[in-house]
Amino acid sequence: MITHIVGNRPQFIKLAPLYHELEKAGYEQDIIHSGQHYDENMSDVFFKELGIPAPYVNLGAGGGSHARMTAKAMVGLEEELFNKKPELVILYGDTNTTLAGAVVASKLCIPIAHVEAGPRVHSKENPEECNRIATDHLSDILFCPDAISLENLRREGLGELAYMTGDIMYDTYLSIAEKAAQDTSQEEIIVMTWHRQENTSNKERMESILNLVENLGDKVVCPLHPRTRKCLTEYGLMERAEAIANFEIIDPVGYMEMVALMQRARLILTDSGGVSKESSYAGAKCLFMMDLDVWEDLVRDRWILKVDPQDASRVAEALEFARQAHHIPQEERPKYYGDGHAAAKMVQAMQERNLI
Ligand code: UD1
Ligand code: UDP
Repeated sequence: MITHIVGNRPQFIKLAPLYHELEKAGYEQDIIHSGQHYDENMSDVFFKELGIPAPYVNLGAGGGSHARMTAKAMVGLEEELFNKKPELVILYGDTNTTLAGAVVASKLCIPIAHVEAGPRVHSKENPEECNRIATDHLSDILFCPDAISLENLRREGLGELAYMTGDIMYDTYLSIAEKAAQDTSQEEIIVMTWHRQENTSNKERMESILNLVENLGDKVVCPLHPRTRKCLTEYGLMERAEAIANFEIIDPVGYMEMVALMQRARLILTDSGGVSKESSYAGAKCLFMMDLDVWEDLVRDRWILKVDPQDASRVAEALEFARQAHHIPQEERPKYYGDGHAAAKMVQAMQERNLI
């Protein structure tokens, strides 16, 4: 039995291609949901759209502080994994669910495969960095989305366990891109996502992001993460956000609709690791609202421009970048994240290592 441990939005999107690839190869597998994300449009919608079977258990670990959530997920995972001892656990990305899975599975001596291993933002103030480093070092096989991630792992002495498979989110993107394709006569938009702890835990920071949105001038469509909605409301900023004429706030959308939005975008404004990378699949340049080392190839190419919304000169540069941004045709898009067959490479590598 192979057990996938997932719990939040980007993990469901990463799970789909690997689940289907393992199914095609005839492996027995099941899914544990930590419950970290629980709204219908943050969880169920992705299982339905991407044809993933329902998890056999949901641990209800959503909400609360980092420690509470991680601890609750760990206790639930230990109960599940202790008796059934799967031959392999597969973990995804860098969330608290990932960390909980890594700690529990390693203590039970269950081998771990880590999907999306190796990216480093070089700041331990970033909660996801801590989760990712710990998970990489506890895993038995590591799947890298790009060459830089592989290099990072080699530098940390993990090169022996690491494979450059390419980004599994590209597999998912390609599986849906054609179906999602929009009528190109529709107006171009700016698409925004906004949810990181660093951008939602301080009122001034949130106000500066709203100012940036307003200064962009063109229509900005933002499927708003529930965390951000809660924080805007708590800080009394929701009315201000809704009063920005060019700002269209919508509820979080399913993956199909998200891809359709990105395909219409001439620019993506985001603090999401996943969305900033997907911008290169969809053909929209990206303003990244964090001062972290993300997707360094895209930053070097000025596909991604990092902006600090609280720094006037950086904002001026970002507005100029935004003014010039236009939808980029397929043949001119950068290609750093593999060929869209990451899942097949992962299955092959796990077989080679006798992990499955
Ligand atoms: C988490 C991950 C982050 C990832 C993101 C993807 C960690 C540390 N963070 O951040 O790496 O980029 O998921 O979206 O694991 N909430 C709801 N409904 C939901 C989910 C969340 O209302 O379905 C609200 C709750 O108030 C919750 C808050 O959002 O407390 C934050 O959720 P949480 O899962 O802690 O963090 P994310 O910001 O989603
Ligand atoms: N996404 C989505 N609907 C939305 C917002 C994002 O389907 O309303 C997708 C997005 O295209 C990407 C993934 O969710 O595939 C990214 O998740 P998120 O930004 O929550 O997490 P991160 O990548 O920052 O960990």
